Amino acid sequence: MSAIQVTGLTKRYGELTAVDDVTLSVGEGEFVGVLGPNGAGKTTLLEMVEGLRRPDGGQVEVLGEAVWPRNPRLQPRIGVQLQASSFFERLTAREQIRTFASLYGVGGAIADEWLERVGLTDKADARVEDLSGGQAQRLSIACALVHDPELVFLDEPTSALDPQARRNLWDLLSSLNDTGRTVVLTTHYMDEAEVLCDRVAVMDHGRILQVDSPAALVRGLDAPARITVAPGSLGAEEAAAIPGVAEASEGVDGLVLVTREPGAVLGVLAAGDHLAGVSVQTGTLEDVFLALTGREYRA
Ligand SMILES: Nc1ncnc2c1ncn2[C@@H]1O[C@H](COP(=O)(O)OP(=O)(O)O)[C@@H](O)[C@H]1O
Ligand SMILES: [Mg+2]
Repeated sequence: MSAIQVTGLTKRYGELTAVDDVTLSVGEGEFVGVLGPNGAGKTTLLEMVEGLRRPDGGQVEVLGEAVWPRNPRLQPRIGVQLQASSFFERLTAREQIRTFASLYGVGGAIADEWLERVGLTDKADARVEDLSGGQAQRLSIACALVHDPELVFLDEPTSALDPQARRNLWDLLSSLNDTGRTVVLTTHYMDEAEVLCDRVAVMDHGRILQVDSPAALVRGLDAPARITVAPGSLGAEEAAAIPGVAEASEGVDGLVLVTREPGAVLGVLAAGDHLAGVSVQTGTLEDVFLALTGREYRA
């Protein structure tokens, strides 16, 4: 059974179609990312899937249940990262998460463990108003996870985090997914989508342009690899004669070889002792976005 089945989902705000006929399914245990620049429609899509926003058209089924109107059977089974503004007023971080926990019959010890897991133990007695943006974001994620939901929704969970906290959260989400939880997140970070997700839905202007694993999306581009050889190591004519090299030209960082057979070309370079300082560049999700939309990715 799929964890999420979205069919023809549409949301309009006046003239603007924020989510435009989106169809997407997410399998149980999958880690799926919705990747797109600001304004792509990620939040609107996610909120309709979570049952928080009413679609203008299409269907959503989550864990086999309808999500709209608000379905109380689903609440204990899903975790939704709330905006920091939806915290209870004047409570400390510990009181916040303990309150969320008690709504689901989860004890205080587990709530405190979650504070530890997101690195907030030393902020447990701070009021949420006094937390930094990143700390509040980590608290909201802990509150979404405290009842151990089987399906987790996160909307740009790392946007306010510093690089270290971002890595920590990646580890946390990966380990949740490793233990069978389904994770759906939105992000405008290409690297985040690439590192975390089994599949990425590339979204722009309300539409999902393509869904696949990051590797398959890049492979689908059929873009050649660019191998840069340190300056002076190899002559351009010699390089152009290597089987599989389509093009060899002097670049700023050295000699650039364009090839669709990077493995074979690297083998020849190794045999000729030209590997020192070599770098290989293949396609990225950024190239995928460019190919799909005809424009540069501007998050
Ligand atoms: N409540 C709303 N009223 C009118 N327009 C909205 C509303 N919410 C979002 N939008 C518009 O819908 C589009 C998609 O927004 P959103 O789903 O927030 O995108 P993302 O999360 O990818 O940045 C944007 O153009 C945004 O301005
Ligand atoms: Mg958003």
